[in-house]
Amino acid sequence: MKLPEGLRVLITGGAGFIGSHLVEKLLDLNNEVIVLDNFTYGNKISHLKGNRKLTVYRADVRDFKKVKETMKKVNIVFHMASIVGVEEAYRNPVEVLDIEAKGTANVLTAAREYGLDKVLFGSSSEVYGNYLHAMSEAGPLAPISAYAHAKIIGEEYCRAFKQEYDVDYVILRYFNVYGPRQDDRFVIPRFVKRVSQNKPLIIYGNGEQVRDFTYIEDAVNMTLLSATKENANCKTINIGTGIRTSINKLAKHILKIMRKEKKLQLTYMNYNSKRPRAIEVFNRVADISSASRTLNYKPRIKLSTGLKRYVNWYLRE
Ligand SMILES: NC(=O)c1ccc[n+]([C@@H]2O[C@H](COP(=O)([O-])OP(=O)(O)OC[C@H]3O[C@@H](n4cnc5c(N)ncnc54)[C@H](O)[C@@H]3O)[C@@H](O)[C@H]2O)c1
Repeated sequence: MKLPEGLRVLITGGAGFIGSHLVEKLLDLNNEVIVLDNFTYGNKISHLKGNRKLTVYRADVRDFKKVKETMKKVNIVFHMASIVGVEEAYRNPVEVLDIEAKGTANVLTAAREYGLDKVLFGSSSEVYGNYLHAMSEAGPLAPISAYAHAKIIGEEYCRAFKQEYDVDYVILRYFNVYGPRQDDRFVIPRFVKRVSQNKPLIIYGNGEQVRDFTYIEDAVNMTLLSATKENANCKTINIGTGIRTSINKLAKHILKIMRKEKKLQLTYMNYNSKRPRAIEVFNRVADISSASRTLNYKPRIKLSTGLKRYVNWYLRE
């Protein structure tokens, strides 16, 4: 598996969940890493403070001057800065658009000016909306939220910059990535937190919504392979596993791992103004045949293993 080595890379949103794992792995591989983040959701790389190969800028990706400053002599940029989480994004539609559109345009413009090798854009499986079958990169796309539409704008900007200025890109459509350091804007950390507090799990709707849970180690490997593999250039890649799991099944899994299945119940709740039914995707699973072929990689971490690792990390922290 050939991953980036000895390069200078920028990670926007590098203090976030996926970003922090990219930072760790890229430092391990002896790269020089620069992070640009405004710390909206805290700092998940504080444990790396003092590493000589890491430089952190507290800045907003919408500030072009700062983006340009951080991109000098950089080979590759991983553009992950975003407002993430269905509910967060629902509450901030204007900011979501602003960050996706302006932030992505800034990154691509600086990449063009400095002649970077590649821009990797963190997109989302939300762009597919509801689709009964496994979702393939070729579409159809049926976005149902402002967040998903904004991601499509970011994707289209990548394509436009290739067409107009020959900037190479890879679009990464992440499917429910989870693992250590993820915070409780997301379903797995929320469930684990409630179980550890002996509180029943709250599920919106009937719990039969299907997701494709992807462990962070697989997501990072696929992201880094997309950076090094030339045949990934200018492609869109699903970062998922192709395995369907309902929210009910996920909840029962977590209760079992935490040995609370006899003590705690699942509580069902109607959608509400905090989480409206209109923006809920009911069926989401990746078709990873193209991604596996392009990257020569198949996700390795089963949900049961990944959940145990997350729970162990959570209890330790
Ligand atoms: N985690 C998932 O399952 C998932 C699924 C689909 C897509 N994605 C995409 O992957 C990327 C990373 O997601 P994540 O899960 O690590 O989320 P995260 O919220 O943990 O990380 C995002 C980071 O971006 C930073 N940020 C937000 N606005 C910024 C701005 N204006 N300027 C600079 N930094 C800013 C935040 O402070 C945060 O550190 C995002 O683009 C997200 O849309 C993630």
